[in-house]
Amino acid sequence: MRQLSTIVERFRDRFGAVPRVYRAPGRVNLIGEHTDYNDGFAMPAAIEFYCWVAISPREDRKLCLYSEEFSSESGVDLAADAPAPTKSWSDYPIGVTLQLEGAGFHLRGANLLIESEVPMGAGLSSSAAIEVATALALAEQSGAKPERVQLARLCQKAENEFVGARVGIMDQFVSLHGQKDHALLLDCRSLTFESLAIPDSVKLVISNTMVKHELASGEYNHRRADCEEAVRRLATVLPGIRALRDVSPEQLEKHKGLLTDVIYKRALHIVSENARTLDAAAALRAGDIDRFGKRMAESHRSLRDLYEVSCMELDLMVDLAYQQKGVHGARMTGGGFGGATINLVDARFAGEFKEKIAKAYQHETGLLPQIYICKPAEGAGPLLSSDV
Ligand code: GLA
Repeated sequence: MRQLSTIVERFRDRFGAVPRVYRAPGRVNLIGEHTDYNDGFAMPAAIEFYCWVAISPREDRKLCLYSEEFSSESGVDLAADAPAPTKSWSDYPIGVTLQLEGAGFHLRGANLLIESEVPMGAGLSSSAAIEVATALALAEQSGAKPERVQLARLCQKAENEFVGARVGIMDQFVSLHGQKDHALLLDCRSLTFESLAIPDSVKLVISNTMVKHELASGEYNHRRADCEEAVRRLATVLPGIRALRDVSPEQLEKHKGLLTDVIYKRALHIVSENARTLDAAAALRAGDIDRFGKRMAESHRSLRDLYEVSCMELDLMVDLAYQQKGVHGARMTGGGFGGATINLVDARFAGEFKEKIAKAYQHETGLLPQIYICKPAEGAGPLLSSDV
């Protein structure tokens, strides 16, 4: 494992100590988009792109952070007042630090070197990967053993409260609970999941459009507010509901008069996406990959037309996918407004798919996309020096 030995060396050069090393994966979501903050269902898989955190203790209560990507240092004094966010990479590890302390974990001072290979801005959860890797590293070197579900919640809270993005829990959860060769059917209300095997006959192929539009985070928070507004209005006639998870397609149709056109479209996406995700899970259990692919196609159309979080580049990448051989399904993945698509491709055609879609996308846009043929990976954990 080359990465582990190089990160240990870099750490030694910078901080003069031998670190422990933790890593946390990014993720791709197969279906169930924007459902997590509606208490609904999602189907993510962790992928073999990791954020690595090397850590060793300090005598004082300072955390010194170094990012390899940004060649930049930052830090926080745990004995002083909490700092304010700076809108930079360090908000993620510092946000997580403050959450762990706030939850009663007494952290030791430490030096941390952070290195990530999760593509940034691609909708593959580089943020969750850095949060989770940092949280695990800090907790374990302070002798704390929080439950993984609690860690996922604390990382999500760090992003909500310190970074300012009102994300749901899917990314942090799967980064901690991912399983090799499996996707997770995650119930975002109960935080229970079912592992679903991805058959060897298909590959998860991720196409990175290489664009990320500026409005992404602002629009994300708006969508969430739209969903909350839908619940407030529908609760006047459906008093038992707590989230759009609790609303059936029939109830939504019956009471659509209570909603504006825009809020209705948002709610219709969520309610139908939950049903599609459950049906996709049933299809996977039954080995019916074509049916799974149909649900992916519907999901993309719904995200494009009802939830309005797609963009020209994502739509193009999906259209191009359907022109290739061996494609069962294709859709945007993650928050949207750029980033990546997920394609379920017959394993025999994955290599050809990669080559042809890259050429076609470059021809149309002038941008050279990155295409990754992925396998579902294990969730976050420590690495042992015997792994080197
Ligand atoms: C981002 C968020 C997740 C989820 C997705 C959309 O990745 O971090 O919580 O809401 O968008 O499904």
